[in-house]
Amino acid sequence: MARAKNERKDEFYTQYIDIQNEMNAYFEYDPDVFRDKTILLPCDDPEWSNFTKFFVQNFEFYGLRKLISTSYAIESKNLDLDWQPTLFEQENPNFDIDKTRVKGKIFTLERDPNKKGKIDINDLEWRYLEGDGDFQSEEVKRLRDEADMIITNPPFSLFRNFIKWIIEAESKKEFIIIGHQHAFTYKDVFPLLKGNEIWLGKGFEGNCTHFYSQYEDRAIAGDHIEGMIRVSGVCWFTNVDHGRRHQPQQLMTMADNIRFSKHKEVRGVGYQRYDNYDAIEVPFSDAIPSDYDGVMGVPVTWLYNYCPDQFEILGTEKELNIPKGRGYVNGKRLYSRIFIRKKK
Ligand SMILES: C[S@@+](CC[C@H](N)C(=O)[O-])C[C@H]1O[C@@H](n2cnc3c(N)ncnc32)[C@H](O)[C@@H]1O
Repeated sequence: MARAKNERKDEFYTQYIDIQNEMNAYFEYDPDVFRDKTILLPCDDPEWSNFTKFFVQNFEFYGLRKLISTSYAIESKNLDLDWQPTLFEQENPNFDIDKTRVKGKIFTLERDPNKKGKIDINDLEWRYLEGDGDFQSEEVKRLRDEADMIITNPPFSLFRNFIKWIIEAESKKEFIIIGHQHAFTYKDVFPLLKGNEIWLGKGFEGNCTHFYSQYEDRAIAGDHIEGMIRVSGVCWFTNVDHGRRHQPQQLMTMADNIRFSKHKEVRGVGYQRYDNYDAIEVPFSDAIPSDYDGVMGVPVTWLYNYCPDQFEILGTEKELNIPKGRGYVNGKRLYSRIFIRKKK
């Protein structure tokens, strides 16, 4: 995905089951989480994507007020595809040959108390946008401002801009978006995670999933699925509460870790202190001692286990002004760490 960011490879389409698994987590925690809300699905492509399909199918069940989905014009995408408008578009009276390649589209679905029968994908109304559907355009910003919730898998190459775009909206927006663990320590993302303004969603099994994509998959043979690309280190970022983040991580005491840890770096060895910072080094998230009250440096991926009722986040090396920008143990420079402390 780091490569995707640099090369502006943004065409990754999310599986229905991944959307369903994640949304279920919020719904189980609060059955009214989506009720009476206007949900915006930007950077989507309802003709290809499962976000719109999922929310149309659950429109009544979730009690939504309005669904808005926008897509990005094909000419603006970084794609070398032999592209044709879908039959859905071509056969629709709104079809415009001059607009189809250069304009984004907007799809809307509103609650209609007079409507009989079940809502389905044919109830979506659509038209071309004035512009290409760029989420940063004034036109899509107005839709953001109208929405209560923003849900999507945004372009990986613009993840920073996308988070900023949500946060800078005048009234606070709820959001549930896909991203990558590379973003944990971004200077504009980490302070939000640390301050519990945003957190990780329930997530993907093993923090990994397959997306529909035209890009070449470098997955090992057993993991390869035709027409899909496997991405590891993938997660959901959100500010909507769910049960998993309130489940404390199961941990052993320091003494038990030293006796029984599965990690040879800890078992029979114990915990090292940093040469240049007053904290202990915990090289694995599952080796955090449950009974240690001091400061601990833990791997950045520990954020997947973060329960705000159990630990507080103090900062990264940069925020804590740790000399030489990294923790050192016995003169050896370590990987990037997050510094945490047990909650009192
Ligand atoms: C990671 S894909 C996700 C698509 C869809 N939301 C899904 O998950 O199935 C991101 C989409 O955003 C589009 N995109 C790229 N830059 C954009 C921009 N500036 N504004 C809006 N959409 C953009 C890409 O063309 C791509 O289709």
